[in-house]
Amino acid sequence: MRPSIRELIEYYNPNLSLAQAFTPLASWYTDPRIAQLELRTVFSRSWQMVGYIDQVLSPGQYLTSDLAGEPILVIRGRDSVLRGVFNVCRHHAAAVVTEREGKAENLRCPYHGWTYDLEGKLILTPEFAGVTNFDRSANGLVPVQIAEWQGWVFVKLDGGGPNLKEFLGGDLIERFERLPSINSGPEPAEGNLERLFWFERRSYFLNCNWKVFVDNYLDGGYHVPHIHGGLASVLDYSQYTIETGEHFCLQSSPIASGKTESQTAAVRKGERANYFWLYPNLMINIYDEVMDTNLVIPRGVDKTEVIFDYYFADTSDQAREKNLASIAVSEQIQSEDVAICESVQRGLNSRAYNSGRLSVRREAGEHLFHRLLHADLIAGLSDQEATV
Ligand code: FES
Ligand SMILES: [Fe+2]
Repeated sequence: MRPSIRELIEYYNPNLSLAQAFTPLASWYTDPRIAQLELRTVFSRSWQMVGYIDQVLSPGQYLTSDLAGEPILVIRGRDSVLRGVFNVCRHHAAAVVTEREGKAENLRCPYHGWTYDLEGKLILTPEFAGVTNFDRSANGLVPVQIAEWQGWVFVKLDGGGPNLKEFLGGDLIERFERLPSINSGPEPAEGNLERLFWFERRSYFLNCNWKVFVDNYLDGGYHVPHIHGGLASVLDYSQYTIETGEHFCLQSSPIASGKTESQTAAVRKGERANYFWLYPNLMINIYDEVMDTNLVIPRGVDKTEVIFDYYFADTSDQAREKNLASIAVSEQIQSEDVAICESVQRGLNSRAYNSGRLSVRREAGEHLFHRLLHADLIAGLSDQEATV
């Protein structure tokens, strides 16, 4: 008989130490029931990064996103307040805004022309005279929680719960502020990343569960010498450190500058590579004056989109070639990770694999990830059973 979803989740024992721990069952990565539950729990209860503040600086500027299947619109009002709303028309549910980003005077639904102002209030309903018991003021776009941190915009689907800072945790916020490579700038303004500017976005599609990508990221550099020859040549792998906090993991490696003259070495300079992971699905990778974020989005139980946003200190035309060379190195690393993640997904589907063990030296980040996931899934399951 097929095990129940509760059995699959409870099979994982979060109380084991890293030395004793097993990975979650392979079915966490292949069973659509788990994928559904994750959307309602992990992705609905966490603060999710949807964009960066430069996209929405002035009144009317907006960005759209898709969060756990929910269309989201982030827009700066005429009153300069940044708001998040569901991008779902109150008439017959069409997306009101269809572009990924832009600037608007007001928000006109493309379906029947209902129009909302920049604050989400419904201001125009063509050919709607005579409709009884209809209160226009009660039919604005539905708000969603929104907050900013370090120049990124975050949204949370479920109401209540921790605010963004509580969710990120004081330990992460403090750790981020201590980054020497970021604080050494001439004028670190409100955000420590103030000196870096967005340059380009690239999306990658993988045939694997989103957690395979996260696990791969969190293996403490275990795979680096085996999979990433180019990267291994510039990182001092033996000095790799792994720090886990409440909701985050920081993997860090000294950069062995001058070790080689490779293409990788030319664009990965500085003292340390810092790889932050924020539960559940955001990575922030910082090398001196280069940064990229990776947002890992489930697109089905065995499909994942990873959105890379690249940031550089200098985004002028003169720096363009150098920045593109840096992205090319990142793409090479990414293609190596895609291949291994897809191989893992095939293995997770095999009858020969159920679960595995973790390296004490390397895999503390994965252990944290699995325990946080387990807690969210158990809580979501209990809520679901309580409402049936
Ligand atoms: S669905 Fe938007 S106006 Fe009809
Ligand atoms: Fe990798």
